[in-house]
Amino acid sequence: MKVTVVDHPVVAAKLGALREESTPTPVFRRLVDDLVTLLAYEATRSLGVEPVTITTPITTTTGVRLTSPPPLVVPVLRAGVGMLDGLIRLLPDAEVGFAGLVRDETTAQPSWYAERLPEDAAGRGVFVLDPMLATGGTLIAVVQALLARGAEAVTCVCLLAAPEGIERVRSAFPADNVSLVVAAVDERLDERAYIVPGLGDAGDRLFGSAAG
Ligand code: URA
Repeated sequence: MKVTVVDHPVVAAKLGALREESTPTPVFRRLVDDLVTLLAYEATRSLGVEPVTITTPITTTTGVRLTSPPPLVVPVLRAGVGMLDGLIRLLPDAEVGFAGLVRDETTAQPSWYAERLPEDAAGRGVFVLDPMLATGGTLIAVVQALLARGAEAVTCVCLLAAPEGIERVRSAFPADNVSLVVAAVDERLDERAYIVPGLGDAGDRLFGSAAG
């Protein structure tokens, strides 16, 4: 797995504000949105382009457009949904699938409860959105599902990652067809498999605790 930690002052400043316990939900959502757009600049770097003829007000020249089929973006329910707008702002033609996994709070094992993925994910850029790469179990399950549907390469976009989670995903996918783009790698996981220092429960901070 190829790991890119986006080292940028604007990313670092927004991440600091995101971690702050007193940051209210509307501001938290906006910060996530901004951060994902910044990470997306790196995450989309290897998308394919093809030449296209452009007529400027002055002359005709050659530009590029993204190749078809359009990219596939897969937010992991529920917190990944808070990252969707930030990515499709850059990729307005993207198609969206959904991966619903819930983590058992005792065993930290993920299990599927919803899966809306195309039968055939071949020949396109594929992006998985999940703010927190903690144990890595969820991300491994989603990437496996996409590779099984023919995706040649999968890019995971996360806000924070724990070293333990990165190692687990790396050993599940040692080749460079799986990439991770992340704003920061934190110290460790705690006994509840939360990222330290982290930002708490990303889903609750984005959407509140009404959905449990
Ligand atoms: N999921 C979260 O929302 N936060 C963590 O720290 C770990 C997993």
